[in-house]
Amino acid sequence: MKLKLSIFLICLMFAASLGAQTTPKTLVVKAGTPIAPIQSTMWGLFFEDINFAADGGIYAELVKNRSFEFYKPLMGWKKTGEEYVGQFQIINSQNENNPRFLRLESLQGKELALTNEGFRGMGVTSGENYNFSILARQDQGSSALKVELLDSTGVVIGKTEVKDFSGEWKKYETKFTCSSTHPKAKLQVTLSGKGVLEIDMVSLFPEHTWKNRKNGLRADLVQKLADMKPGFIRFPGGCIVEGHELETRYQWKKTVGNVEDRKLIVNRWNTEFSYRNAPDYYQSYGLGFYEYFLLAEDLGAAPLPILNCGMACQFNSTELVPLDKLDPYIQDILDLVEFANGATTTKWGKLRADMGHPAPFNLKMVGVGNEQWGTQYVDRLKIFLKVLNEKHPEITFVGGSGPSSDGKDFDYLWTQMRELKVPMVDEHYYKTPDWFLKNAGRYDSYDRKGPKVFAGEYAAHDKEGKDAESRNTWKSALAEAALMTGLERNADVVHMASYAPLFGNVNAWQWRPDLIWFDNLKSTATPNYYVQKMFSTNAGTDVVSALVDGKPLIGQDSLFASACIDSKTSELIVKLVNVAKNPATLTLLLDGKQPSAKEISLQVISNLNPASFNQVGKPEEVTPVERKQTISGKKITMNLDAYSLTVARIAIKK
Ligand code: AHR
Repeated sequence: MKLKLSIFLICLMFAASLGAQTTPKTLVVKAGTPIAPIQSTMWGLFFEDINFAADGGIYAELVKNRSFEFYKPLMGWKKTGEEYVGQFQIINSQNENNPRFLRLESLQGKELALTNEGFRGMGVTSGENYNFSILARQDQGSSALKVELLDSTGVVIGKTEVKDFSGEWKKYETKFTCSSTHPKAKLQVTLSGKGVLEIDMVSLFPEHTWKNRKNGLRADLVQKLADMKPGFIRFPGGCIVEGHELETRYQWKKTVGNVEDRKLIVNRWNTEFSYRNAPDYYQSYGLGFYEYFLLAEDLGAAPLPILNCGMACQFNSTELVPLDKLDPYIQDILDLVEFANGATTTKWGKLRADMGHPAPFNLKMVGVGNEQWGTQYVDRLKIFLKVLNEKHPEITFVGGSGPSSDGKDFDYLWTQMRELKVPMVDEHYYKTPDWFLKNAGRYDSYDRKGPKVFAGEYAAHDKEGKDAESRNTWKSALAEAALMTGLERNADVVHMASYAPLFGNVNAWQWRPDLIWFDNLKSTATPNYYVQKMFSTNAGTDVVSALVDGKPLIGQDSLFASACIDSKTSELIVKLVNVAKNPATLTLLLDGKQPSAKEISLQVISNLNPASFNQVGKPEEVTPVERKQTISGKKITMNLDAYSLTVARIAIKK
């Protein structure tokens, strides 16, 4: 009897101790007391032409080296039918921006063919129409061009013909339908007839593009961006702004106007990493500043261009523009503001109108410099700011804090930014998932009176794996979600945030992880994408406090939380992250507001394997699901899956 009693008591104590461990924490949410507005720009996009994100990516052109301007003029092209040297001649004389063209000579009437390999092949779809165009001039005789799309075994899957060429340079356009879906097709143009034909800008686009703009952007990729409802889009990068040396910096003026007059340059990611060399990586600028502004407008995102501040990449050449020679660089910014916002009677405003957009693009922010550091940056920034603040007080100028998230250079720049009263400072962090968890409280102690934060480039870098997409693990995404609760909680200081980089071509990447992976036909959203989307489509309008025992939930029992209200829809939105391998329970206690419905909506991403990732062309392993939960009253029990992000939307009484 005594033994039975003591066993019973031991069991009781054990149960009690278990109970003590599992008593759900109570997250008190002051739904009726907004603390700070959440900027409409809070969650946005970082676009850089890295990983073949532009040419070979979002820009739907299928022909690589269409204007023969690569360092090796026939890179990407294969010649057939040549009998003697001179039948295919590269001529370097046409004009300053597009100097080279190809002369095809067949005076005996022998066929000469040229095949373009595309960007690791051309992705083409059965039933889709393709727009072929070419600039050409008949120099002698009379020629015709057979235009054929071939699958990788050489079978013709689409064709058309161009003939009756004029003796003057002229653009010829034709279209044809493709009969088969193929990821690695090629374009072949075959010269027939006796004559000499000169050609340039050989181009092939699918007819169906984003908004069906002619020669526009890949619809599936832009759709993924649109689905995120981003608050802003930063472009064109990234290090691409800086160039290896000043000569190869990004110069927006060379990216606008007629496509054939945009001077192509090498892409700085071409040889940046020896283990991922891409000698065929160039910037055709078919996607240039006009197209970036248009994309921003389409997405309803505020445009944020970043311009060079007179410094080339400090990881490469550190080439500097002398302080008394910065005028052209400053003028580039002034002219950009005119291009985006100026009246159509101004030089640059007129160009915008001539390109098809008389209405202004509503530019409100410009970044000066990317990952610069040291006194050289500050000395230059001061000069830029003086002129820009005088001429454009309406524009918010964004300064940088260098490539590191902390340390001597970072602290120095932040001190300078405060002194210079720079309105917004760009921070970058590419760190381990663990760093992200530990830094979820990073902004809690930031100076409330100083510059605002633009978390302009961040990504949790998990271990490297064999598959291109393998670094985009659920673990990395979950860690980002944890940190993002800290960004939201500090929305009074953090005004903008963007994951980086945005796109990765599985067959041609240089840098990973990336938010969206794609091949020539398909794309996949990473777990990180779903996290970003869950935050940006549940952005809310004002932060409210969400406290456990009077403190923000930052990792206690592996949980992280933030909360906001959406004053437009009268909803409370709570974001909860559980980074533990076990499910958790949390009690939500609404303070100051009553739920107005008996049911709440939940969006949940969870996966028991933190190493899971999504791959192009395979069923996705990590995806969000929608759930409903019945509630009664102000106390809501939240059952959180192991390794999960949960966003709860709770309708509240006004
Ligand atoms: O996002 C990739 C690169 O990372 C960016 O170009 C650069 O700013 C950073 O170093």
